Amino acid sequence: MPDLVNIARDGAIAVITVDNPPVNALKHDMRVGLIEAFRQAQEEPAIEAVVMMAAGRTFIAGADITEFDKPPRTPTTGDVIEAIEAMPKPVVAALHGTPLGGGLEVALGCHFRVAAPGTKLGLPEIKLGLIPGAGGTQRLPRLIGMPKAMDMILSGNPIPAEQALESGLVDEIVRGDLRAGAIAFAQRVLAEKRPLRKVRGRDDKLAAMRADPKQFDELAAPHLKRGRGLKAPKAAIEALRWTLQLPVDEALRRERDVFIELRNGEQAKAQRHIFFAEREAAKIADFSKDVKGREVARAAVIGAGTMGGGIAMNFANAGIPVTIVETSDEALKRGLGIIEKNYRASASRGGMSAESVEHRLGLITGTTDMDAIAEADLIIEAVFEDIEVKRDVFGKLDRLAKRDAVLATNTSYLDVNAIAEMTQRPSSVVGMHFFSPANVMKLLEVVRGAKTAPDVLATAMSVGRKIGKVPVVVGVCHGFVGNRMLRVRSVESERLLLEGALPQDVDGALTEFGFPMGPFAMGDLAGLDISWRMRKAQGARAEIADQLCEQGRFGQKTGRGFYIYEQGSRTPMPDPEVEQLIVATSRRLGIARRVLERKEITERLLFPMINEGARILEEGIAQRASDIDVIWVYGYGFPAWRGGPMFYADTIGLPYVRDRLSAFARETGDPKHEPAPLLARLAGSGDNFSAISKKAA
Ligand SMILES: NC(=O)c1ccc[n+]([C@@H]2O[C@H](COP(=O)([O-])OP(=O)(O)OC[C@H]3O[C@@H](n4cnc5c(N)ncnc54)[C@H](O)[C@@H]3O)[C@@H](O)[C@H]2O)c1
Repeated sequence: MPDLVNIARDGAIAVITVDNPPVNALKHDMRVGLIEAFRQAQEEPAIEAVVMMAAGRTFIAGADITEFDKPPRTPTTGDVIEAIEAMPKPVVAALHGTPLGGGLEVALGCHFRVAAPGTKLGLPEIKLGLIPGAGGTQRLPRLIGMPKAMDMILSGNPIPAEQALESGLVDEIVRGDLRAGAIAFAQRVLAEKRPLRKVRGRDDKLAAMRADPKQFDELAAPHLKRGRGLKAPKAAIEALRWTLQLPVDEALRRERDVFIELRNGEQAKAQRHIFFAEREAAKIADFSKDVKGREVARAAVIGAGTMGGGIAMNFANAGIPVTIVETSDEALKRGLGIIEKNYRASASRGGMSAESVEHRLGLITGTTDMDAIAEADLIIEAVFEDIEVKRDVFGKLDRLAKRDAVLATNTSYLDVNAIAEMTQRPSSVVGMHFFSPANVMKLLEVVRGAKTAPDVLATAMSVGRKIGKVPVVVGVCHGFVGNRMLRVRSVESERLLLEGALPQDVDGALTEFGFPMGPFAMGDLAGLDISWRMRKAQGARAEIADQLCEQGRFGQKTGRGFYIYEQGSRTPMPDPEVEQLIVATSRRLGIARRVLERKEITERLLFPMINEGARILEEGIAQRASDIDVIWVYGYGFPAWRGGPMFYADTIGLPYVRDRLSAFARETGDPKHEPAPLLARLAGSGDNFSAISKKAA
């Protein structure tokens, strides 16, 4: 038997332990070992029951994803589970850490489950564009009922041990030593002669729904709506429905087939790409392993506005005390009030306990006294986007912060190198660019200045992960990676309006592509006045948006923008007045309007962005193409199942993207549409962005 699985005896109980650090991924050798171990336990007459557990920090946390791109090998996880479930002796799974995916499915094949406090149990396959492929869709609803099972499978989110106990997913929570507790549980099962409970044979929690299948449709409807365009949620719902319709063996076979089909499909491939890209983004290419970040025991945030408040919440959520500094009591009170309101709202939605709200609020201190930052290990500036205000703030930080504090700026567009030079310690300065709402959005662009010290950069990255963000290193340029590419798209969306499209056509093309929202609906939501003010400051102009702002149409907050909004509604409705304004503007500028097909609109919006991405790569502003994908998926709503802009470009073929860009350059007369040198080179040599990222790694 391979060393990944070992079997020990404790009286009449066999303890089968898997040991494949770090997360006990269910790789092929482990599956072979498990089948063998259970065979031995079955054949040994002195063994009356089995405890299955895992060494290290977690029970099996899932499949070995690196096997996903290879042909499947038997025994499959399904085979292992069948072997366990068919055992004539009781099998108790002893869970700790994160029994996820295939790991939880193995546990579902056991006859009983006990868990240590703090265990998180889940079926996250949906997040990789998959469905559980080893019985999860058939066994979980039988064990905990359809509503809860559907939630777990369709959200992919794990549940804590206490909830698992309540729902019947685990039979007992073992406090103290898990092994001893699980053995004691198994002995009780034997002493009480409890029948073997095979989950596959249970029906008590499904009977009512089987009698009234309408209940199932009602439950499924919101999930299907949310998962629009995605294959996995639809497939998961179908598979769950089979629990009501098909014999279990037939359903299990079909579930496996669907799993393999999804796994080989484009959507799951793109989602795997993002999964690995996110991990890759954590690596800083030119760093040796011994660069370590500095300890951050206390943080400070300057400014309690839109961003500062959200940033502070991240620290409190992660248990790190944080001080917020404002200029006036009034601004401070307003900022702290919004934080409190946000926490109370999530508590009332059931996302957080009242104690937890109090605890987090207790970690946030507000002050108007800048001296308070002297205690902080990390200070994040989130004041007005004005270089003189930043100069004033960084001058103070330089004077007051402790010597080894990290000084970060949340600026969106200003030059981080110039900000660093406002201090006597430019090597301590780094950009930490959060996205709005900062307590929700996962992306964090970590801006590496020319003089940023390695351990300062490492601190921003590690603290970013600690507060639940996905940090990505970017270099200094106007707008860094995300906003620089977004700007290209904004210019193009305005142009499309002048050439013949309407806001709803442009937005429709992008939502059809998979974005949650198009640029005009998004502008209306954020407030059109913000970018108007910025354009005015830079002497720039956007024909349509500027006219709307001049009419006081700032978007949702004024009830009108690119769209019109009914009182109290956030639903954008096309506005004939806007259409007239657009048509008149085209005429005034001498542009002949024409019909633009969806496909052309989508390409006109996305390909110039991809082109800018190629320039960003060539300039070294991003470390790798997959970092750009992570930025767009986590910060700008690019559909994960399309893998991000650069992966998407690879999927459709770089020669096609190049040729279309050349055509756009000709048609619009904009030389920026000419294919970037890197893009042209890759397209010409048959290479692609993924391949060069791999070569560089
Ligand atoms: N709003 C966004 O979507 C967004 C996204 C990413 C980054 N940013 C950047 O974050 C920064 C803050 O933006 P915001 O939207 O939160 O602005 P905001 O106007 O909502 O908040 C700025 C806050 O800073 C306070 N402030 C100003 N000068 C100060 C000083 N000297 N000391 C202490 N506090 C001071 C103001 O009173 C105000 O409450 C800007 O650099 C902006 O570019 C904004």
